[in-house]
Amino acid sequence: MVAVTARACANIALVKYWGKRDAALNLPAAGSLSLTLAALATETTVAFDPALSDDTVELDGAPARREDVARVTRFLDLVRSQAGVHVRARVVTRNEFPTASGLASSASGFAALAIAATRAAGLHLAPRDLSILARRGSGSAARSIFGGFVRMHAGGTSAEAFAEPVASPLAERVRMVIAIVGGGTPKLHGSRDAMEHTAKTSPLYRGWLDQVPRDLAAVEAALAAGDLDALGPIVEANALAMHASAIAARPPVLYWRPATLAVLAVVRGLRECGIAAWPTIDAGPHVKVLTTAEDAPTIAMQLRNLDGVTAVTISAAGEPAYAFDPARIVALPGPS
Ligand code: DP6
Repeated sequence: MVAVTARACANIALVKYWGKRDAALNLPAAGSLSLTLAALATETTVAFDPALSDDTVELDGAPARREDVARVTRFLDLVRSQAGVHVRARVVTRNEFPTASGLASSASGFAALAIAATRAAGLHLAPRDLSILARRGSGSAARSIFGGFVRMHAGGTSAEAFAEPVASPLAERVRMVIAIVGGGTPKLHGSRDAMEHTAKTSPLYRGWLDQVPRDLAAVEAALAAGDLDALGPIVEANALAMHASAIAARPPVLYWRPATLAVLAVVRGLRECGIAAWPTIDAGPHVKVLTTAEDAPTIAMQLRNLDGVTAVTISAAGEPAYAFDPARIVALPGPS
């Protein structure tokens, strides 16, 4: 029985994934583009064990909820069928996220699980195949296999819907200032159900889907040119367009709280003072601000003072996900 541990970082979409064209294969309706974040990592250990009658999942030191275990089991079934393994697995996963942040962990979680589970089952998949597999667990997880800026392709077939890294001179320079709104209270609508509901009922969903390819092209051009001033406005507009489509759903999907809007206003004010700052928002009330290493501390200081903002973290771009042997690291000879 081999236990394998993998580490993956979460990512924040600069051009959002919001809508699927195939729920069973978890195929996105459009491409997306993200930045992997060093400050938000997940470590997951997987061991297939013939002594187990069911998969077990421990999340941050406690048994996972029944629906989370079911989702992990569905994912492990894909790995078992690829590897020809028939035994159940023990999964231990730990999020190194800022305490009580309420940040989503499915991207880093399924990326780390894809690597740890395939290795533990004796498979050695190439990064692209890991990305395709991670997508089956969660669409955004396909991007967390890679570091820095990452492009997800909608693809025609399942084998074409993978992510890959995008080189940019901005990778070293950019930072994300993550402002936690509302202290990690559980979110009202999970992204999976909310995007499906938006696709089915929002009169603005079509307009959102039409806009995504244009935003992807503009973001890719800005990344290639290393032009943050061109990148930032598209990032802000894309996030607001995604939320506009969700807000127009019936009944509406509205993630924002008063402090969310307060952060948006402060960011706009800072920008008018010459600070590089563009906000983005996922399926929750928190705001992440795209900026530079030089401007990040100023933004963080301003946001910390706002009512309703409970924590602020600065993150640089994260590394690609990888597997390692914690026992070997612990076993390294010490100084004495
Ligand atoms: C708003 O990847 O969580 O964060 O594929 O159903 O698991 P599933 O969805 P998920 O959706 C992420 C939505 C988002 C935007 C993004 O990360 O691109």
